[in-house]
Parts: sequence; structure tokens; C-alpha cells
Amino acid sequence: DKGGHKHWMAKEIAEQPTVLADALAHYLPEGAKGVNLPGVDLDFAGVDRIVMVACGTAFYACQTAKYWFEQLARIPVEVDIASEFRYREPPLGDNTLAIFVSQSGETADTLAALRYCADKAKILSVVNVAESSIARESDVALPILAGAEIGVASTKAFTCQLTVLALLALKAAQDRAALPAETLAQHVGNLRLLPGRIARALDAGEAIRELSWELAEASDVLFLGRGPMYPLALEGALKLKEISYIHAEGYASGELKHGPLALVDSTLPVIVMAPRDGLFDKTISNVQEVMARGGRVLLITDAEGAAEASAGAWHVLEMPSVPPIFAPILYAVPAQLLAYHTAIAKGTDVDQPRNLAKSVTVE
Ligand code: F6R
Repeated sequence: DKGGHKHWMAKEIAEQPTVLADALAHYLPEGAKGVNLPGVDLDFAGVDRIVMVACGTAFYACQTAKYWFEQLARIPVEVDIASEFRYREPPLGDNTLAIFVSQSGETADTLAALRYCADKAKILSVVNVAESSIARESDVALPILAGAEIGVASTKAFTCQLTVLALLALKAAQDRAALPAETLAQHVGNLRLLPGRIARALDAGEAIRELSWELAEASDVLFLGRGPMYPLALEGALKLKEISYIHAEGYASGELKHGPLALVDSTLPVIVMAPRDGLFDKTISNVQEVMARGGRVLLITDAEGAAEASAGAWHVLEMPSVPPIFAPILYAVPAQLLAYHTAIAKGTDVDQPRNLAKSVTVE
């Protein structure tokens, strides 16, 4: 039942405030002190390295979580695509924790990578399907509680994966005494605000629907982000190419002048995901380089960012403000809505894009 929505994807995007709140309520029960996630029988004090392995959107969730584990808990993290990791046969140190992220829990390459690590490291998985092979073969399996995801393009599973990974990073910070208790409590409080902020971010749907008609005319689109917004730029590009069949690429803003700036002309939409964070000025100077070459910039930012940097932009979308470290969870929503409405404008099959399967059980 699509609950009154035209597509599963629309329903699954709209469900995010609810499923995120469910996941938070499960992992942070009312009245609990600190970040002692139920079911996470693991002390990060004994972990000196994390490797994270996944495919596609789940891989981008891992790339985002690298920023969190490193900045909040000071644990070095390596992230890899499962199909590369499994054949590279990388060495794993004694105190390495291996984390596998998968919506279906059945992705062939991710499962093979997990099996490679099985006798070499502690295995933790973050899955949506609790009865899956990946969950069964893990030492610790954490459900993301997103509910069934039917649209081939992953939406609510991505934001729920991010939420569970953010909680894990906070638990790691607590176990390693890497943050003062008040700072930790502040981060937890900020995560609890996300469902409400995401509900407000969904209000951008109408503005996105209108501009998607123009986006649908493009043959290429560039997504830019910096810091934890960089993996989200990659995810935004994947979502768009997957369902609208428009060629899209994500780049770290700082990489622009190392090559992709050559692509910029008046036909190229450049979508910039930039909350007003400590790196905002650097991102905006990259944006100005794009505008100086006639590029059409869609700036997705918060009120403060919009007040400072709207001049010359093609469009500006204003998101509710959130602490920058967790902004990727919120900014996933406009990325999903852009892909969704652009695909609708092009008339493609949103829920079942050509050539793709929901669960990739062959390599
Ligand atoms: C993109 C998408 C895919 C999956 C990837 C991994 O929207 O859905 O990139 O994220 O195939 O699938 P899981 O998470 O089931 O391992």
C-alpha cells in the first residue's frame, strides 16, 4: 500500500521522519543515560581501527560515517567498496572492527567481504533486513528499523543507516572518553531533533518539483560538497543518474579546479550542498568559480548560508538549520526529492529503473 503516494519512492521519502524517530527511540530509550545502545555488546576502547565495507548508497553512508568516527571518537577508519575489498585481500590488524552496511543484507559482494573478515576481525553489520545472511553471519547485527524499502533507489534506508552509524560513532566516543559528557549529550540531543527537521525539509518538495523541469533538460549535472557533505554529493549524483538517467557526478568542492571545472558552461547545473559550517567560505569560493564561468548553481543551504551567498545563484533551497556534523542526514532529503521530481519530469520509471535490481545477489 503506497499510502496515497504515486510511487513507493515518494512514500519512502515521506516516511523518513517517522522511521528515523523509530530508530532513535529503539537505540536511545527514554530515560537511558549516555549512549549505551541496546544490542551493541562491544567496547570501542579496545578498537584501534575500523574498516567499513558496502556497495552503492550504503557505501556512501560508510564514507559519511568515517567523518564521524574520526572526528568524534578519534578512531582511524578505512572505507571500501565491497567488490574491491574482497579481491584485494587486505591485511586486518588484531584490534580491527569490520563494519558492513547493507539494506538487503544479501548483497553478494558485501557478504563475500564479510566472509573474508570472519576469522580475522570482529564483525558488526548495519542492516535493514534482520533475518538476512549478512545479519546472521555477524557478531553484532544492528537493525536500522526503516521498514520494508520497495523502491529500487534507496532513500529511507540511507538516512536510517546514517542515523545508526552516527549513534555508533557517539558510543565509540563515549567508550574511548574522546568527548566530554556534555558534548556527547549535546550531540545526542541534536540527533533527536532530526526527525522534526526532516519533516520541515520535506516542505521543499514543491520548490524542487518546479525547478526539476529545468533540471530534466540537462544532459550532465555536477554535485559538490565538502567534509561530511562530500559523500552526500556522491549519493545525490547516484540517485539522479539511477532514476532519471541523467549523467551526474559528485565531487569534493576542493577538487573542482583539479579537473571538473573544465566541464562548466551555461548548460551545466551544479548542485552545491553547503550548510553554513566552518568550511562554508571555502565552498562558496568554489561556487563563485563556477558562476564566473557561467555555470548554473543550485545552492542548498540554511538561512544563514542563503543570506550570505545567494547572489548570482540560479536557485537557492533553504533547509532548516542543523549542526553541520549531522547535516548529511537532513540534506539527503533534497537530494532524494531532486532525483524523484526530475525522473517524474522525464517520465522514467521511478520505482523500477531500467537494468537495476533491488537486491544484487550476484556479483
Ligand atoms: C542505490 C541503491 C544501491 C544499493 C546497493 C547496496 O539507490 O539502492 O546502490 O545501495 O546495491 O545494496 P544493499 O544496501 O542492499 O547492500
